[in-house]
Amino acid sequence: MTSREKHLSRGYAAVYSQFDSPLIQKVRSEAFEEDIGQHSWLVANELREYLNWLSLSRADQVLDFGCGPAGPLTYLVTHSEVTAAGVDINAAALTSAQKRVTAMGLSDRIALHDVSGNAELPFANEGFSHVISIDVVMHLPDRQDSLAKLWRVLKPGGRLLFTDACIVNGVLSDEDIRIRSHYGLSHFVPEGFNESALASAGFTLEKKEKHSDGLIAICSGRWQARERYKKELVGEFGEAAFEHEQAYLKKLVEIYSEQKLLRYAYLANKC
Ligand SMILES: C[S@@+](CC[C@H](N)C(=O)[O-])C[C@H]1O[C@@H](n2cnc3c(N)ncnc32)[C@H](O)[C@@H]1O
Repeated sequence: MTSREKHLSRGYAAVYSQFDSPLIQKVRSEAFEEDIGQHSWLVANELREYLNWLSLSRADQVLDFGCGPAGPLTYLVTHSEVTAAGVDINAAALTSAQKRVTAMGLSDRIALHDVSGNAELPFANEGFSHVISIDVVMHLPDRQDSLAKLWRVLKPGGRLLFTDACIVNGVLSDEDIRIRSHYGLSHFVPEGFNESALASAGFTLEKKEKHSDGLIAICSGRWQARERYKKELVGEFGEAAFEHEQAYLKKLVEIYSEQKLLRYAYLANKC
């Protein structure tokens, strides 16, 4: 990992090491309309929509690239008959993911891999029928290279579904960008960037939809739930960390409501 990726990983580790604590569980259960264990801007209804897009069957193998604590991945596997793998660069995410997979009795259907030290994905060519990647691409230093890696592990005709919450659609100040880059390593791209990157990597775009509303609902839900548990959260993490996160959530509600940044879901095909 580069030093910027290590910094990113430390930022996520601070969240993931507390992901299953009783206090954070309580906040999550009040913040999310439906808590499926996501650490992203994905609402459960959207994931159900993606399941329709993918129409998975028993013979399919799914890779979740940047699975985090595996909330969306375990939901997808529970609601289909597929086998799956999840990869992430964050050890704390994978510890939480493994706990979740075991608790849900999915150990024989989901394998988890730490890819922090890998230049390549640890899978054979054409091993997966589907790849999903929820709110990860903004962190990838070389999107073209990452898409090429995902193309390699997909079977011909396989499908890639990913979301990108950092599409620039208006004027962003230095403060907007600084606060939005909460975890460090972040990339903000113009409309059309992902379409070109997909085409260069050999994918055909099947579908693209704007999905910013869930993000706004999650940020606002988290902000309000955290205010209700302010005393406990400040006691556990300190005043500065509490206020920093609140400012981040408030700023996101503002910039996505004003549509300065957009979040899109893309479905593409390896032709
Ligand atoms: C916003 S979280 C999303 C987690 C999960 N997809 C979800 O929906 O709950 C982004 C995740 O991407 C992971 N990540 C960032 N760069 C990565 C990379 N190069 N390879 C794999 N995972 C990466 C982070 O560690 C983090 O867990």
